Parts: sequence; structure tokens; C-alpha cells
Amino acid sequence: MQLTINGDTFDLDVDPEMPLLWALRDIAGLKGTKFGCGVAACGACTVIIDGLAIRSCSIPVGAVTGEVRTIEGLAEGGRLHPVQQAWMDEQVPQCGYCQAGQIMNAVALLEEVPNPTDQDIDDAMAGNLCRCGTYPRIRAAIRRAAAMMPVPSGNGS
Ligand code: FES
Ligand code: FES
Repeated sequence: MQLTINGDTFDLDVDPEMPLLWALRDIAGLKGTKFGCGVAACGACTVIIDGLAIRSCSIPVGAVTGEVRTIEGLAEGGRLHPVQQAWMDEQVPQCGYCQAGQIMNAVALLEEVPNPTDQDIDDAMAGNLCRCGTYPRIRAAIRRAAAMMPVPSGNGS
């Protein structure tokens, strides 16, 4: 089956029931997306499909109809995505394991809500667990990234 990932078309010879996470890591070779719990409970495997943050461990690859974006697809032209830059500026990661999922969830949030309130951030990020407890730095990085991201046209501001 064909899948569009980060703008590239992949021909993947996989069982449609295979979780997308397996297809990304083991078939497409994109290891930036992490396995944490396997049951949609931790957010480590978050990718973006058609603008929505999706737990890739819990969606069969055959059910994917839109373009998939992973952590590997965020930087453009050698420049980090504003969320990645903010993550570095705030020195967010500790062990790092949850962070690709955190970043993808944050990107989906900021594309939907360009200037989130603290409550918006807490609500959107609640399902992304970090056993190292980097939550205060994650919130600071999201606020920093919001200030760096281009304002989408047509939002009236
Ligand atoms: S590995 Fe998918 S939510 Fe935990
Ligand atoms: S940085 Fe270690 S689990 Fe989040």
C-alpha cells in the first residue's frame, strides 16, 4: 500500500492491520517516532495526520487516509521548526524518550490554536506523559514557539 509521509510517497508491503507505528519504524525506517505503551495511553508515538495528533500505535496502517507527518518532517531547508527551536532554547528534554511525541502534539496544538492559553496547553498536552517530569519546560517551550510561529492568514489578527 502507498502512504504519504513527510511529503514523500512510500510503497509499503505491509498487512493493513499493522499499527502505523510499526510501519513507520520497521518498514519505512523512520525511527524518530517512539514506542511507549502501545495502547494509546502515553503519547510517545504521536504523529500528525491531516492536522490531528494521532497515536500511531493504535491506528492500523490500512486506516490511514491522509498525509502522515513525523518528527523527521518538521525541519525545512535545514531550519528547525519553531517548536523544535523552542525545545532547544528551553532545554526541555531530560531522557528524551517522550519528546518526539510531545513535540508533534505541540505542533498540532499550535497549528490549531496559534496563541494557546495555559489551560489550552494543559488540556492539549494532558495525554502526553513524561516520566522525567519536564512539563514546566514543555509549557514554556510551547509559549515560546507560539511567539515564533507565523500567524496564519485570515485569523483576523
Ligand atoms: S506508544 Fe502510543 S500512546 Fe503510548
Ligand atoms: S524526557 Fe524522559 S520521559 Fe520525558
